[in-house]
Amino acid sequence: MDDDQVMSSRASDEQEASLELSLRPHLLSEYVGQQKIKHELSVYIKAAGERQEALDHVLLYGPPGLGKTTLAMVIANEMHVHIKTTSGPAIEKPGDLVALLNELEPGDVLFIDEIHRLPKIVEEMLYSAMEDFFVDIVVGQGPTAHPIHFPLPPFTLIGATTRAGVLSAPLRDRFGIVEHMDYYQTTELEQIVKRSSRIFNAAIEPAGAHELALRSRGTPRIANRLLKRVRDFAQVGGHEAIDQAIVASALDLLRVDSRGLDEVDNKLLMTIINFYQGGPVGLNTLAANIGEEANTIAEMYEPYLLQIGFLNRTPRGRVATPAAYEHLGLDYYELRGEK
Ligand SMILES: Nc1ncnc2c1ncn2[C@@H]1O[C@H](COP(=O)(O)OP(=O)(O)OP(=O)(O)O)[C@@H](O)[C@H]1O
Ligand SMILES: [Mg+2]
Repeated sequence: MDDDQVMSSRASDEQEASLELSLRPHLLSEYVGQQKIKHELSVYIKAAGERQEALDHVLLYGPPGLGKTTLAMVIANEMHVHIKTTSGPAIEKPGDLVALLNELEPGDVLFIDEIHRLPKIVEEMLYSAMEDFFVDIVVGQGPTAHPIHFPLPPFTLIGATTRAGVLSAPLRDRFGIVEHMDYYQTTELEQIVKRSSRIFNAAIEPAGAHELALRSRGTPRIANRLLKRVRDFAQVGGHEAIDQAIVASALDLLRVDSRGLDEVDNKLLMTIINFYQGGPVGLNTLAANIGEEANTIAEMYEPYLLQIGFLNRTPRGRVATPAAYEHLGLDYYELRGEK
């Protein structure tokens, strides 16, 4: 790459980042969907504010792209406090955690994304920080080593994870507020798509927003990403507004099907159906067959397929449902030899 290219790709990275920032809602009232969580949080935020206390620690869990990071920022904003964001793997040693905690003012939020990936010794140090607002650190080495008791201001830890099941019980139990994020309804995704298009200054017809919402896997991040691509097609094609036909043809080109399934989803279902007569088949075998990590399948692909009823999890493995066959244009009973 020459200098000009480097410059321009940097500029577009920045544009992309600032666009991303402007897409994020800042208040609970702008945050679409997740009604139950919003209602509960609004009560806890109001109560903590009236008592002038830090909000209790919050754990947010659910599939990627559903708005956990966004919600953490909204909470800090509604509490009128600062937020420091980091992630589990970024905090390598206890000293890194102490440095972060040291910068907090009373009531501030520390947001740790992918909290299930915290190193064990850091996690253990977090226990006393969360429960009693102190950490004990050892300074010096050998015979001169001595512990220092380090008090902390009351703060709110917000942890986010795609896998609540892998969090250790002592860590999970220290969160006073635990919220599970769900996939969004089509009507909610429509609202998000309409809001984002206003921010992009791109006109979209209601039927276009609906089609896009249907193909977004219940996930705001995917809705916003697809909207950006569809907007490109509409602009280059000289269309004034994004309508249903443009959405459908652009997403067909991008191989996102009518239910939002992509090539990996399709490969996964086809493998279960063609190689294992619809299952059951174990997760690891399936992963090896389609060349993806078992974790990736379990965290990113399976939850949505389970949610829309295309996949079942049984004690003996994964099973493709009749609805999955129908979606793929296959005859369930004939292929299972039940006809
Ligand atoms: N409730 C919502 N209303 C409007 N926009 C939303 C909402 N939730 C998420 N978004 C948008 O979706 C995108 C992804 O959200 P975010 O980064 O918060 O997801 P996440 O759950 O933290 O994902 P990951 O698990 O991958 O970190 C953002 O661009 C955000 O603007
Ligand atoms: Mg995030």
